[in-house]
Amino acid sequence: MNHFVSTNGELFCEQVSVAEIARDVETPFYLYSKATLTRHFQAFDSAFAGIDHLTCFAVKACSNIAILNLFSGLGSGADIVSGGELYRALTAGVDPQRIIYSGVGKTEQELHYALEAGILLFNVESSQELERLQQVAAAKGVKAPVSFRVNPDVDPQTHAYISTGLAKNKFGIPIDEALELYERAMGMENIEVKGVSCHIGSQLTLISPFIESLRKVKIFVERLTAKGITIDFIDLGGGVGITYDTEQPPHPRDYAEAIKQELQGFKATLILEPGRVIVGNAAILVTEVQYTKSNRGTEQVKKFVVVDAAMNDLTRPSLYGAYHAIVPVLEKGAECEVVDIVGPICETGDFLAKDRELPRVEQGDLLAVMSAGAYGFSMSSNYNSRPRVAEVLVDGSHYEIIRRRETFESLVQGETIPGGVRHGH
Ligand code: LLP
Repeated sequence: MNHFVSTNGELFCEQVSVAEIARDVETPFYLYSKATLTRHFQAFDSAFAGIDHLTCFAVKACSNIAILNLFSGLGSGADIVSGGELYRALTAGVDPQRIIYSGVGKTEQELHYALEAGILLFNVESSQELERLQQVAAAKGVKAPVSFRVNPDVDPQTHAYISTGLAKNKFGIPIDEALELYERAMGMENIEVKGVSCHIGSQLTLISPFIESLRKVKIFVERLTAKGITIDFIDLGGGVGITYDTEQPPHPRDYAEAIKQELQGFKATLILEPGRVIVGNAAILVTEVQYTKSNRGTEQVKKFVVVDAAMNDLTRPSLYGAYHAIVPVLEKGAECEVVDIVGPICETGDFLAKDRELPRVEQGDLLAVMSAGAYGFSMSSNYNSRPRVAEVLVDGSHYEIIRRRETFESLVQGETIPGGVRHGH
């Protein structure tokens, strides 16, 4: 459940009218509900009550420091994948001892920064990364706490671009080869072996792939224990899906129950890295209709609704063919028609919805793109030199801008013309 509800034909976020915010901050903007963010974090985290666990919110899903700070206050740690995300997490006040660092391509500078910060764990994904981490830690005279991310070769049955746990994906160390790496790491002076991690993919709508990979991890942990290698942390990654359209993902309670069952008898602390399931349905993207038009082809009339948000603001439909429900902010009882909802960007791939039934809209109407909280703003870009949009957080009857809309000046910030501006002839 979320706190975006229509009352008498008008969309509200908690107790605030979405149209009222639009008048104030202008469109497009992302609008987050604090009550929904809080509720979703707590529903997920409390589902694991009774076992030793740490929920590390996946920063990549939604990186605004106001939101990271909110989760941190609720007891969350952070799952980061870059120096930039580490900076965000620290700025938001996340305890470094609750930060874990995933990703296949950590640079030397990033390893250095994370060691300096004193994070809880590095999820190491290759033998070369292990060597590099050993060197960086040795130069600093510290020990780096390490989990290895194993690749269990399990099909998560999700979109190919967001499947990560198959042997053909670039992630992790093949589970059958990982033992050797653990043994090597045990002999390294500046490495402290702490755990095992895996993450098989995102937007999973079944529990079974999680359990299949956990079973493989359990067998692996038993092999490690037999070799005298103690595992303090088992990290199951993120990946529980949400409902965008008709998907029926597992409830966090059922997901947690299944995992708890499997982990009976294991002493390690469970780490979870959820992103989408916490923030996905906690935000919308609000956009204004600029134009409506029809293109008459030989076979059909194609209707377009051109809005002021585009693929640079929400890339998921263009990149993954992802479905986001789109509803009018103010219902006017108009008849439905089938339209493409498109942005102003100069490519045909720029759409928010294709062949979608939408009540007839006109210039100036507001539309809400639902379920935009995960991988929405965080994947946005400046393509077509479009300033990135504002982010707004509602708390009850109050709202606040948590990220200002970028300006034209911010677009060229950091760019220089060698020799200074020369005017054309
Ligand atoms: N942990 C790791 C190591 C990850 O790579 C990810 C997501 C997560 C946790 C969080 O997964 P979640 O709970 O959000 O499913 N941009 C795509 C999703 C990419 C997911 C990348 N990794 C989208 O918009 O669907």
